[in-house]
This record gives sequence, C-alpha cells and structure tokens, in this order.
Amino acid sequence: MAGFDGPAFYGDRWAEVYDERHAGLDPVAAVEFLAGLSSGGRVPELAIGTGRVALPLANREIAVEGVGASQAMVDRLRAKPGGPAIPVTIGDMAQVPARGPFRLVYLVFNSLFGLLDQVRQADCFASVARVLDPGGVFVIECFVPDVARFDRGQRAETLAVTEDPATLRLSRHDAVQQRITMQIVTLDGHGMHLRPLALRYAWPSELDLMAAHAGSAAHRALRRLGQAAL
Ligand SMILES: C[S@@+](CC[C@H](N)C(=O)[O-])C[C@H]1O[C@@H](n2cnc3c(N)ncnc32)[C@H](O)[C@@H]1O
Repeated sequence: MAGFDGPAFYGDRWAEVYDERHAGLDPVAAVEFLAGLSSGGRVPELAIGTGRVALPLANREIAVEGVGASQAMVDRLRAKPGGPAIPVTIGDMAQVPARGPFRLVYLVFNSLFGLLDQVRQADCFASVARVLDPGGVFVIECFVPDVARFDRGQRAETLAVTEDPATLRLSRHDAVQQRITMQIVTLDGHGMHLRPLALRYAWPSELDLMAAHAGSAAHRALRRLGQAAL
C-alpha cells in the first residue's frame, strides 16, 4: 500500500507539525474517561501518535502501551518526558499486534477513520475482539459525519490568515466510499507546504454493527458531537 493507503503515510507527513497543530486539543476529558475504565492491567492505545493522550494517562500510573504505524510519530513521543517508558509496537492497528488479554483498548481522535475502507475498519474491531478480555471494553472516539459541509463533493476553507502564513483546507468528499481527502495548504514567506490527509468516516450505527460483528459485547463510542472533520 502506498500514498494515502499506506499505514505510515499520515504520521510520516504530519509528525513534524502534529503537536503544534493540535496544541489546542485538551486531552483531559478523554484521560478522565479512560482512567475510570482501567482496572489495573496493561492498556494499549491504538494509533498512539506522539502520546497526546497516552502520556497524561501514564502519569496517572496506568500501564499504557501503544501501537503506531509511523516511526516518525513515535520518535516524537520518545523525545518527551515519560515517552521512553511507554512500550510501543510499530504496526498496523487493523491487525492489533499486541498480546492480550486486555480489559481496555482505546483508539481516540477519529483515528479509526484513518483505516480507509470498511473492511480494514471491521478488521480492527475483529482484531481488538481477539485480544480483549471477555468483559473488556474497546473505546473509540470519532466525530459524527456532517456531509452537509460539502457542496457537490468539495469544500475550500480559509483556516487562518496572518501577517505571514495563510492556511487553506481543500477537501473532496466521496459519498459512496464515505471518504474525505484533504490538503491543508500553508502559504508563507518560504513557499507552500502541503499536509495531506484522507479518512473514511463511518456512521455511529455502522460502528455499532462492526463491534457487534466482531463479537465485542462491550463497546462504547465516545462521540464528539458536532466536531468538524479534522
Ligand atoms: C490523528 S493521529 C492521532 C494520534 C493520537 N492518538 C492522538 O490522539 O493524538 C492518527 C495516528 O494514527 C496513526 N495511524 C494511521 N494509520 C495507522 C495504522 N494503520 N496503524 C497504526 N497507526 C496508524 C498515525 O501514524 C497517527 O499517529
């Protein structure tokens, strides 16, 4: 798999600016919620990224570990205080390369939608079901799609205009594939910088069905109502 479909693609293209671009996201609510569900065992985060949620959770004495596709993102995690202590497996969250059983597995910030077709998303649920303890919980955090944002399958937005950079977001929407393909374009005194992103959204009912098919009786979706697609 290459380009958008390569598991490491997003992280490799975003690692350099990921923390800076998402500095406004407060992980406290997610950390509180996850801490309340953990019951003493190891807790894997799928798509751990730079540790935005994993690090504050580990600071609560929870034995967080991670799976991530992009070494560049994991290198950023490693460079942070507490980062080297978090075990991370480089691999594909659709396959969940982790040995359970776990009481809690989580996948936050819409990252399930980084698996770009329904089969790979369903594979992820099935793989999690394999490593979950029979009473275990899989927590996902996803936005609820708002396809009215698109006009005939496209949208162009001006995200920021300052004295130097201007930032645009150019999106295409494929309603059949439930896929959004974007470029975040920054124009500044040094030129133009592209940050590409693709996601395949799923409806809440579809997520519930995937979980039911995977046999994970206990599943919860922590939904960000109204959040715009990344
Ligand atoms: C939006 S970031 C979220 C990172 C972190 N969970 C957070 O909340 O900040 C998405 C992450 O998913 C990772 N990722 C994308 N596809 C993946 C895959 N197939 N397997 C594992 N990780 C993947 C990317 O490398 C990136 O770190």
